[in-house]
Amino acid sequence: MCKSVCKTLLVAILAIFVYSQPVLALAQELQSGDKIQARLATDYIHSVILAGREFYSSQIVGRLKKEIGLETSENWEKENALPLPAQFLKLSAKHSNDLGIGLKIRLVGLTPINTKNLPRTDLETLGLRSLSKDSNKPFTWIVKRGGRWSFQAVYPDMATSQSCVNCHNAHPKSPKSDFKLGDILGGILINVPLGNVPLAEKGVSSDDEAFQIPPAIVSDYVHAVLESDRFVYSKYVVKRMQEHNIVESSENWEDEKKLPLPAQYLLNTSLLARKNKIGLNFRLISLWPINFNNSAANEFERNGLVSVTVDPLRPYMGKLKRGRKSYFQAIYPDFAVSESCVDCHNAHPTSPKRDFQLYDMMGGMVVSFPLNK
Ligand code: HEC
Ligand code: HEC
Repeated sequence: MCKSVCKTLLVAILAIFVYSQPVLALAQELQSGDKIQARLATDYIHSVILAGREFYSSQIVGRLKKEIGLETSENWEKENALPLPAQFLKLSAKHSNDLGIGLKIRLVGLTPINTKNLPRTDLETLGLRSLSKDSNKPFTWIVKRGGRWSFQAVYPDMATSQSCVNCHNAHPKSPKSDFKLGDILGGILINVPLGNVPLAEKGVSSDDEAFQIPPAIVSDYVHAVLESDRFVYSKYVVKRMQEHNIVESSENWEDEKKLPLPAQYLLNTSLLARKNKIGLNFRLISLWPINFNNSAANEFERNGLVSVTVDPLRPYMGKLKRGRKSYFQAIYPDFAVSESCVDCHNAHPTSPKRDFQLYDMMGGMVVSFPLNK
């Protein structure tokens, strides 16, 4: 009984606390000199991919197997099972790669189960061979293709649990059957375009400092990965599982042994990504939030939500100063892309708005990270 009442009280106290704080964030114009190192950009992208995969592996695959015996299978489409984490990653990567914004993500391996995951260039092979078991540092290089430079980074993908080892070693198509816990099974390859780089033709460079990307573009990449994960989770997990009457999604997913809602999937991914302490933050907010914690936290966010309502074609972007640190922040519109968004929000007891319609702007996705130190 106390549970919900206390929770409401706690939220109210928290809200009063948040709103009684002076607005510390000061909005500023972005300058053309504000850039992000390409290596930091791929770190952000990688941390979103890893956080999504960690949450999917432990809280969807692992937890639901234990609680309701839900299976995860390579033949998930035929077997009414969940896709493997590697397959989830590939589905999401395909979605973001197909957006045509230049960001390309691939899961690769030198001894892969699926030969499509083999490296495609000598540099990719060199990159995978150079990864060290002792660090999570990527191998990076630049390439020129069709007159354009790209920055590429391959991050090690380690067998962090015995299940990785067991499945890969036992798989009939795996060319290697003696992987051990902690071994590198492959890598996550991330490609970002650099635009015009006035450089002599050279293949590899470890001089990452030289390669920089405008923050608005970095934020577009992060947003693309988040939206792709949410798309794959909604379509191939939530919708499929509900249609086949296997398991539903619910706000109280933990107590009810169900799937988290897509908004909760994103929120939990955000909490995991934050543990990396690389400064990247993202969350969903709204002018009409179901959860009061998802209100705009400051004037910039409020202005951003209003702006993307009026002009939903462009994200709202700017620079914020907190103390001596500058942050880049962007707010992307979040639309009611299906009737289920509308139905659930309009009917939810704590929703302050009950007349959402299909394709309405329901809120925004906030992406933020620090600018040059
Ligand atoms: C239940 C089986 C299973 C488990 C568990 C599993 N994988 Fe895989 N993994 C696969 C399959 C199947 C593929 C090939 C997917 C495809 O591309 O079609 C794959 C692909 C990969 C690849 C790309 C290279 C390749 O082998 O094709 C990497 C890297 C990888 N997995 C790493 C991991 C890591 C790290 C873990 C543990 C955190 C893990 N896998 C857990 C089955 C598994
Ligand atoms: C089954 C119910 C349900 C469905 C379907 C649903 N949502 Fe939500 N949504 C919620 C709940 C509950 C929260 C609050 C989660 C939390 O505690 O942070 C939320 C949070 C949000 C937020 C953050 C602001 C807020 O209201 O707290 C946005 C934006 C949002 N949803 C948009 C969408 C969109 C867009 C869709 C469809 C693609 C959608 N939702 C589908 C229940 C739902």
